[in-house]
Amino acid sequence: MKKINVSICTGTTCYLMGGAHLLTFDEVLDPVTAEHVEISGAHCLGLCGSEAHGKAPFVKVDDHIIADATLMKVLDKVRDLMPEED
Ligand code: FES
Repeated sequence: MKKINVSICTGTTCYLMGGAHLLTFDEVLDPVTAEHVEISGAHCLGLCGSEAHGKAPFVKVDDHIIADATLMKVLDKVRDLMPEED
C-alpha cells in the first residue's frame, strides 16, 4: 500500500512561525487514516526563503505544499488524498 507522505518542516523559520505543534499531527489521525500516512520531520524544505510559496510554517503532503500550515489544513489535504473505501 502506497502511503501518503507528510513531511513537516522543523527548520528554524517554520519552528518559530508556529510549526512546533505540527509535530503532534499523528495525534489527530484516526486509526484508519493513520495506516495510510507516513509522517516525517524535515530540515528546512527550502520554501521559507521567498514569498512565492506563502508563509511559514510549511508542510508537504506528497507533492502538495501547504503554507501557513495548521493541523486542520494538513488533515484536510491527507483526507483529499486518501484512497476511496472499497
Ligand atoms: S524553515 Fe521551513 S521551509 Fe525553511
